[in-house]
Amino acid sequence: MSAVLLDDIASLVTNDPAAGPGLLGEVRGAALVVEDGKVAWLGPADRAPACDAGVSAAGGAVLPGFVDSHTHLVFAGDRLSDFVGRMSGRPYAPDGIASTVAATRAAPDEILTANVARLLGELRAGGVTTVEVKSGYGLTVADEARALMIARQFTAETTFLGAHVVPTEYAADRAAYVDLVTGPMLAAAAPHARWIDVFCDRGAFDEAEARAVCRAGRAAGLTPRLHGNQLEPGPGVRLAVEIGAASVDHCTHLTDADVDALANSSTVATLLPGAEFSTRARYPDARRLLDAGVTVALATDCNPGTSYTTSMALCIALAVREMGMTPAEAVHAATAGGARALQRDDIGVLRPGARADLAILAAPDVGYLAYRPGVPLVAAVWKDGRPV
Ligand code: NIG
Ligand code: FE
Repeated sequence: MSAVLLDDIASLVTNDPAAGPGLLGEVRGAALVVEDGKVAWLGPADRAPACDAGVSAAGGAVLPGFVDSHTHLVFAGDRLSDFVGRMSGRPYAPDGIASTVAATRAAPDEILTANVARLLGELRAGGVTTVEVKSGYGLTVADEARALMIARQFTAETTFLGAHVVPTEYAADRAAYVDLVTGPMLAAAAPHARWIDVFCDRGAFDEAEARAVCRAGRAAGLTPRLHGNQLEPGPGVRLAVEIGAASVDHCTHLTDADVDALANSSTVATLLPGAEFSTRARYPDARRLLDAGVTVALATDCNPGTSYTTSMALCIALAVREMGMTPAEAVHAATAGGARALQRDDIGVLRPGARADLAILAAPDVGYLAYRPGVPLVAAVWKDGRPV
């Protein structure tokens, strides 16, 4: 395959400290060569090798494609009325998940597949080149397996979330539902999933239930990642660290012990400001986590209940404005941080040998993603070395 030169890059974010200074390993006045879907070379434009073809970044910034490590894309219907209610003062409660479960169970495969494709199109247009997708709105053996089979058509990063909430038909017998999730449902889901997730929080699953689900998932070959500490302080973060989860997501209500546990672990703290925006809740304190040395990721949490956004740029802007992150830290968290949360080293970074997944901005610096909130600045997206 021929080499393509991407030239006229005002600022190239590599996330590779060997390539340039600062957290983002930035190269100013850069060029990048792509070959066979991978980065073949990058550096100052005046040292670029001759190539078969050239594309101009038109003086924009180029960065690794965003890695959205937390979404719930397989669902039907919407929950606009919940959102409107919250904006007039009603609090968020996980009970609303039941209405999305009913709509999802009733939807044919084609509707669910088309909905995932539509949302992935939005994510892609906004610069996301890798996405994790969870099940969790089926909550029967067949509906959870179906959700994962649909997700699997679009991404290898699929997550079994049978333990999202206890469905209404099991309300009187929670233990039986946990047995279902850890038994037949896991058996049906595991062939289609890489990860297992549990919503460990008020109104969802307690510590013992969550531990049982994670252990069963690990025994079935899935790596745990958790929803924790979204609605109140609780055991989610410490459980995630104890079991060696790849990531614990939300992290809104943390004690000093939670922060210490994360800092002394390889578990990533994934922050989801779209959820705090849409539930009118207090934002997580990213500054506290970063200052303690915790690895932080940013993700959209795209779902119809708490965060119906596909915009990583919005998440970056909120993280900068509301969570104490610098623009560089937020961009790093949305790219390299997401890759860490998915335990991937081929994405979230631009260096020779990495996947040529990247976004080209209609702005000279990635700081514009927070500086110009709400403005669609992603001019082009390349996946595996090709414009998409
Ligand atoms: O990540 N917190 C749990 N799950 C989703 C919300 C799901 C819903 O309300 O439909 C979340 O915010
Ligand atoms: Fe979520």
